[in-house]
Amino acid sequence: MISFARGAPAPECLDAELLADCARSAIEGDPSVLAYGPGGGYGPLREWLGGRHGVEPARVIVTNGGLQGFVFYAEELLAERPGRVLVEAPTYDRSLKVLARLGADVHPLAMDGEGLHPDALERELTAGETSFLYTIPTFQNPSGRTLSTERRRRVVELAAAHGVPVLEDDPYGLVRYEGEAPPSLHELEGGELVTYASSFSKTVAPGVRVGWFVAPAGLAARLEARAVSNYISPPFLTQATVHELIDRGAFEPNLERIKGLLRRRRDAMLGALDRHLEGKATWSEPEGGYFLWLDGLPLDAGELLTRAEAAGVTFVKGSDFFPTSAREAAPSGIYARSEAASADSDLAPNRTARLAFSYASPSEIDEGVSILASLVR
Ligand SMILES: Cc1ncc(COP(=O)(O)O)c(C=O)c1O
Repeated sequence: MISFARGAPAPECLDAELLADCARSAIEGDPSVLAYGPGGGYGPLREWLGGRHGVEPARVIVTNGGLQGFVFYAEELLAERPGRVLVEAPTYDRSLKVLARLGADVHPLAMDGEGLHPDALERELTAGETSFLYTIPTFQNPSGRTLSTERRRRVVELAAAHGVPVLEDDPYGLVRYEGEAPPSLHELEGGELVTYASSFSKTVAPGVRVGWFVAPAGLAARLEARAVSNYISPPFLTQATVHELIDRGAFEPNLERIKGLLRRRRDAMLGALDRHLEGKATWSEPEGGYFLWLDGLPLDAGELLTRAEAAGVTFVKGSDFFPTSAREAAPSGIYARSEAASADSDLAPNRTARLAFSYASPSEIDEGVSILASLVR
């Protein structure tokens, strides 16, 4: 099976030898990593991350991957400020599942090629109490889209005008193959309302389970308390392993190597789509990350998936990334309500698909896209 479904790095992205060596040095250099310790994470890593984000280390909470931090953040915010949670449509499916489990009232915001529509955000912010906005502004999962700088400024202005907290989830920002990085919402806003989240899953290895949150001081303390009550201490060994990798100057070269492997896959997928699917669908052309988004398929993506799996290719149908309330939305649904919705908005979730180019090899990608295209015809 050729997998365009797995949002995971190709196996050769993971440098087992380097990480094994860093793990050994981490234990030998600081045996306290084998003991209990602060719930907010390994001190030296918090200091390094604090320096990178220009905040006190106490405001950095190192979590067991970004998703664990998302659970803590959502639990905390929904308890403190009951109200609707605003999300991009489409958005990360695991976050949607967490929000559903917590009973959150999730409201979708329309997007186009430049990311979420600020007008849609403004409308939702004035429509009722909002607990928080969840956004993945760079190389979004699932769409691969990046919020433009102009829209970032507008999102930050709107959040400030309405006093609404924002969670900026950014695990892919550093995995950039070309182009200039826009400023983060966190930088633009100053970190009073915007909490920044990221992870070493895409830049080192998902198996280390090291994510981090940069939160306002009060919230950071509450996130740390949640961490302590859930697992006492995080796994310091993997956090110290990542710190060792950084400390010996291996983070950037390793990231460059990973980007080289993934850039080739992104190029292979864009090239194959141009060759095989031109005129039959449209797709995003991300400058980084793991995913691209197929839109305007001439058949139902679920039907295409059934046929594709029978032919040896798998992907995730786009409707899985929409909140339940938006899933069946046709052109007359939520998107039509947005005057700002342009021609490339996701008018019909069932005609969309997420293709991950991160896992399959370039030749598998070419073959897989050619199979998909033959089924679309
Ligand atoms: C947008 C987004 N947020 C969070 C995560 C969670 O990553 P992790 O828990 O591995 O840090 C992912 C993983 O794919 C993701 O795509």
